[in-house]
Amino acid sequence: MDVQQLQSTAQALVAEGKGILAADESTGTIKKRLDSIGVESTEETRRAYRELLFTTEGAEEFISGVILYDETIRQSASDGTPFPEVLASKGIIPGIKVDTGAKPLALTDGETITEGLDGLRGRLEEYRGLGARFAKWRATYSIAADKPSEYCVWTNAHALARYAALCQEAGLVPIVEPEVLQDGTHTIAESRKATGRVLQAVYTELHDQRLDFRGTLLKPNMVLSGYDASDRASADEVAEVTLECFYKHVPAAVPGIVFLSGGQSDEDATAHLNAMNARGPHPWQLSFSYGRALQAPALKAWGGKEENVEAAQRAYYHRAKMNGAARTGMYAPEMEKEAVPA
Ligand code: 13P
Repeated sequence: MDVQQLQSTAQALVAEGKGILAADESTGTIKKRLDSIGVESTEETRRAYRELLFTTEGAEEFISGVILYDETIRQSASDGTPFPEVLASKGIIPGIKVDTGAKPLALTDGETITEGLDGLRGRLEEYRGLGARFAKWRATYSIAADKPSEYCVWTNAHALARYAALCQEAGLVPIVEPEVLQDGTHTIAESRKATGRVLQAVYTELHDQRLDFRGTLLKPNMVLSGYDASDRASADEVAEVTLECFYKHVPAAVPGIVFLSGGQSDEDATAHLNAMNARGPHPWQLSFSYGRALQAPALKAWGGKEENVEAAQRAYYHRAKMNGAARTGMYAPEMEKEAVPA
């Protein structure tokens, strides 16, 4: 294993002022996104939408890497250039989602285990050949009186570590994504407790399965009150509680923490990241790996129409720029007005 090469890729992914675009929606998830704008999900509409994002001029000022899906990494721009090459030519690092989804965990009441380990070594080798330099695997956990269970916490931690070890062996940086879902009515204290428990198990397994933390990134949820809670924590409280949790559970050797947005509004996701960076410096870079919070305005502006491509690209560029500002604690809500000229 070449730790230096893994570490330099990880560091490039969390370079100053930059973060990651998650464009790795599975065929089922991207269908939901396209349904929301009244566009039929076909291989061509999925390709056209991803082309719009990947060819946005200037996005590379704020975007260090893009996570692709199995179908997407094999697709090309209209001029025939494969997507991984389109990205690499702008200095954006291509990555790939390699789990095959969260499935019901046997003998539990609605908990999940993420699948995709069988044959993973061969798939990683193929993805590396297609240009990927990092990979992602997402485990999910719910918060309830008896959840997440120790059974769910440890089986997912074990699978995350097995995936991550195979990635390092293959020369790909593993982005380890344990997502404690923030749906429901839980308090921020309950989210803090579940998130800390999950992270502790994940770092125990990563350590025991011989991962070199310097060549990894963590992609976690922020610690929030449930989306349906009556009294929701402020941005300052989210920043304080999330940082306290990560200081306790994430080793300083990890180069970066790249948050998922997980259903927060675009502007909340930016403001929360900003509030955490404003309290820096921290032992790790604090960055973003957003799907919805980077794409939602662009998707809406596009609406599946060729004549709207430029407007959609402006919307995506703007969100990338706002999150780039949040990397240094320099974001302010007034900046939202400056861009997206009609
Ligand atoms: P969201 O930012 O939309 O949560 O997506 C990030 C992601 O990659 C989830 O796996």
